[in-house]
Amino acid sequence: MTKIILIGPPGAGKGTQAENISQQYELPCISTGQILRQEIQNQTDLGQKCQQCIDNGELVPDHLILEVIHTRLLQSDCSQGYILDGFPRTLRQAQALASSEVLLDGVIYINVRDEVIIERLAGRWIHLSSGRVYHEKFNPPKVLGKDDLTGESLTQRKDDKKESIQRRLISFREDTQPVIDYYLDQSRSSTTRFIEIDGDRPLNDVFTEISAFMNSLQS
Ligand code: AP5
Repeated sequence: MTKIILIGPPGAGKGTQAENISQQYELPCISTGQILRQEIQNQTDLGQKCQQCIDNGELVPDHLILEVIHTRLLQSDCSQGYILDGFPRTLRQAQALASSEVLLDGVIYINVRDEVIIERLAGRWIHLSSGRVYHEKFNPPKVLGKDDLTGESLTQRKDDKKESIQRRLISFREDTQPVIDYYLDQSRSSTTRFIEIDGDRPLNDVFTEISAFMNSLQS
């Protein structure tokens, strides 16, 4: 059973690498951003409550996210471990996870410079229902504008506009950097391992380093 957190600024490549890890290690990927985008698409009560926050690049309130995660982790596919992508991103969320007695094996912090983030988000295209992520230059789909597996149309995210990206970067520094410090500190006195990875490299190089870390957890 392996439980992993992927953490990092917007556009660091968390979703992209979560999909790679999920395939290679047969672990479900739980992306709070993807769950919320689907709720918005389906116009559920939760979707309506969080749409404005997401479009503006603000964090959704902790109590809503904790409810989402609590429900999701109870599903049977999580019984053998999982990858958390985008959760926790506040200290309150990290403490709630710790108090539910989840023992994490590893925390993977993917770090990327702000200039790189802006170029990545401007060229990102997603397949909304699966969460598959492409980039028009760095990771293009086989057919322009179409998902590789379903052939369905790709879209751009509303929160990938300039003002929202700036807010997401501020929120990363103010709310999520303390979570990274928290896990780094924890790794010194617990069995949870922590690694910082330079995400400003080709996709495969980043994944090679992640794989080495994952293999070290399992050996
Ligand atoms: P979320 O979906 O989690 O967004 P995020 O954290 O801002 O991260 P992104 O999805 O933008 O980036 P990523 O790191 O996954 O990068 P990606 O792989 O796509 O959250 C969205 C919103 O939901 C939040 O703003 C908030 O409102 C809400 N929310 C979610 N969780 C919450 C929580 N816990 N609490 C409160 N609110 C929450 O890659 C980006 C692009 O770069 C892609 O085009 C990709 O192809 C490309 N790329 C990736 N890696 C590389 C590489 N190595 N080289 C070149 N290109 C690359």
